[in-house]
Amino acid sequence: MSIRSRLISEIVRPFKHTARKVLGETLYQQLRVTCLGESNGLGLDWRWGRSLRRISPLRRDFGWRAGQPIDRYYAESHFFPAHYHDIHGHVMEIADNRYTTQFGGDRVSRSEILHFHAGAPGSTMHGDLTNAPHIPSDTFDCIILTFTLQFIFDIRAALRTVARILKPDGVVLVLVPGISQISRFDMENWGDYWRLTSLSTRLLFEEVFHPSDVTISTYGNVLSATASLQGLISSELRREELDYHDRDYELLIGIRAVKR
Ligand SMILES: C[S@@+](CC[C@H](N)C(=O)[O-])C[C@H]1O[C@@H](n2cnc3c(N)ncnc32)[C@H](O)[C@@H]1O
Repeated sequence: MSIRSRLISEIVRPFKHTARKVLGETLYQQLRVTCLGESNGLGLDWRWGRSLRRISPLRRDFGWRAGQPIDRYYAESHFFPAHYHDIHGHVMEIADNRYTTQFGGDRVSRSEILHFHAGAPGSTMHGDLTNAPHIPSDTFDCIILTFTLQFIFDIRAALRTVARILKPDGVVLVLVPGISQISRFDMENWGDYWRLTSLSTRLLFEEVFHPSDVTISTYGNVLSATASLQGLISSELRREELDYHDRDYELLIGIRAVKR
């Protein structure tokens, strides 16, 4: 960092601390990027210039404590808005029902939350998706399987269960990372095994669903992938930066598959 940048940084440090406290992290970061970043170089560009040559990330928690992680932006602003109509009737989601309630609304008649461990708070069912004979076949209109398949070593067995427990015409909505850090909590509890590509995802799903019933979308570009690895949050990038699609940087992969 130049002496000038260092000086500016020292001068604004106490104000930044107060602004962060008063505005809250998300609004503070938004203002930094949209206002300061443009006008005087104190926003994202400054921060990146200063910080990219580093061996530890800016944040290690995907950005959760600061605001909306970048992969969740693609989930919540693109994937689910495109498929919200599939979330209806009897819906199962993993570990919580955040997207069932957020995008299913009153189309959902029954919401189930499957947890790996029995008795987990908030869960209505438990089981290992690779081996769940206790879950009846042809049960769900929709299964929401977000940020989960990468934690299951035997993906093929999990997808066979998913296809079995969906009703005919039922839909599974899936999100898996293509580019991501390890999720330490998941690694230590059940394992973090895979980063997929659109091709491996398609081939895996086509073993269980008819190819014409599988739709794959990818999200991301080199900037959003790098930002995500650093733990930056969606409000720290501009919308056009987030929305630029580069097919060679599959940060997140979305799958919609229908059981016939
Ligand atoms: C990060 S959470 C994802 C769910 C959450 N709804 C979301 O969108 O972030 C990952 C979940 O995968 C579950 N999981 C890991 N292995 C599993 C398996 N074999 N069968 C069922 N669930 C599993 C874990 O219990 C964990 O709650």
